[in-house]
Amino acid sequence: MKITMIGTGYVGLVTGTCFAESGNDVTCLDIDARKIEGLKKGVVPIYEPGLTELVERNSKAGRLKFSTSYPDAVPQADCVFIAVGTPQGDDGAANLNGLWAVVDTIAPLLNERAVVVIKSTVPVGTNRKTLNRLNELTGREVNVALNPEFLKEGAAIDDFTKPDRVVVGVTNEEVADALHELYKPFLRTERPFLSMGLESAEMTKYVANCMLATKISFINEMANLCERVAADVNDVRRGIGHDARIGFQFLFPGAGYGGSCFPKDVRALIRVAEDHGLEPRLLYAVDEVNDRQKSVLFDKIDSYFGSDLAGKTIAVWGLAFKPKTDDIREAPALVLIESLLAAGATVRVHDPVAMENVRAKFGDKLTYCPHHYDAIEQADCLAVVTEWNEFRAPDFDYLKYKMKAPVVFDGRNLYDPVKLRKRGFYYSGIGLHSDAT
Ligand SMILES: NC(=O)c1ccc[n+]([C@@H]2O[C@H](COP(=O)([O-])OP(=O)(O)OC[C@H]3O[C@@H](n4cnc5c(N)ncnc54)[C@H](O)[C@@H]3O)[C@@H](O)[C@H]2O)c1
Repeated sequence: MKITMIGTGYVGLVTGTCFAESGNDVTCLDIDARKIEGLKKGVVPIYEPGLTELVERNSKAGRLKFSTSYPDAVPQADCVFIAVGTPQGDDGAANLNGLWAVVDTIAPLLNERAVVVIKSTVPVGTNRKTLNRLNELTGREVNVALNPEFLKEGAAIDDFTKPDRVVVGVTNEEVADALHELYKPFLRTERPFLSMGLESAEMTKYVANCMLATKISFINEMANLCERVAADVNDVRRGIGHDARIGFQFLFPGAGYGGSCFPKDVRALIRVAEDHGLEPRLLYAVDEVNDRQKSVLFDKIDSYFGSDLAGKTIAVWGLAFKPKTDDIREAPALVLIESLLAAGATVRVHDPVAMENVRAKFGDKLTYCPHHYDAIEQADCLAVVTEWNEFRAPDFDYLKYKMKAPVVFDGRNLYDPVKLRKRGFYYSGIGLHSDAT
């Protein structure tokens, strides 16, 4: 199949590359000329394990091309995927300006058999509006489908090539069959291909993200309560997780969820609900609990130092919103860093891959350390914000030797409080018995 992927970001680049890997002829298009020039030379603009190798192999094989030109990339396509960003607008709703710009640009360039597939996460009603707009602009019936994406950054290729399920929203079965063919190479282990109406597919994506965000906010709130009542959220987590109705996934307390999806998708669904006269009380709470959770680490640090952080040196390990990605959108570490700087602290940071993105935001306000052990040099305390594997088993004797004081605030509950205290550390995690106030 000839595929054009419009929007070559985390989703578009991974999706386009994986479709090329399964033998399709793919052109990835973007308005960011620098990104496209880089990709033509094999420079992958994001950190995603395994992606560089796949881009290189498929580019060499001639199945994966990059372009900034709509007239070059669209007319021959059987399938035009749209994977542009749908960021949060000022009013909380998804900003669809990018999507509408693409729709208007491709309309005169589409061939008669082309199917337009929206991969971006879009609020209910967007696909039907797209369908009407394309029909109006072309003067014929255009096939429009929605194919929401469920990949996780950091494991995107695995998620895409071995999906739990593929969901498509369609208005006719022929389009569903064509998309099923396209996905068959990734569904060989009996994973379901679920075809439904446009609105149901639109809701499926938001409901999935809101459910996951709800689980995180729920366990974070329970963790905060555990601290107050001298319970240990890790014990509680084990106590509930063995119940098959509950399970263990997404029930790890931490410094709040971030990233390009959960925060904006929860807020976008809130707006959809409000626009339809429904007060989504649970979603308000999920969002509010998460906002508050992003301050928990700072509050603990501030309270430990008696609200006197001026002149203190704080080491921060982990800047990306989660491990194995360089994405810092809505990352909890940014909230912590802003608060530490505002309180007059000096901040030394390390992240295995996200430092350049953070430097672009904070410039010379921070000290960027090439190794995580460099960050703790003469630090008054260490805050761990992202659970990268390399942070899981540090040499604590070395930490003690390098730091001004052996003080650890563990935003991901990576370490054993009992063992750390035995080694002479002050240790504080999230929702632990020993954090009882
Ligand atoms: N990142 C994820 O983990 C993830 C997962 C599932 C779904 N999604 C959804 O997928 C969509 C894309 O997300 P992303 O993280 O890949 O975004 P991104 O910001 O990484 O990439 C979007 C790309 O679209 C390009 N673009 C914008 N306007 C354009 C235009 N008019 N023509 C061509 N290109 C244009 C941008 O330059 C950018 O490269 C969003 O709706 C998001 O909610 C993201």
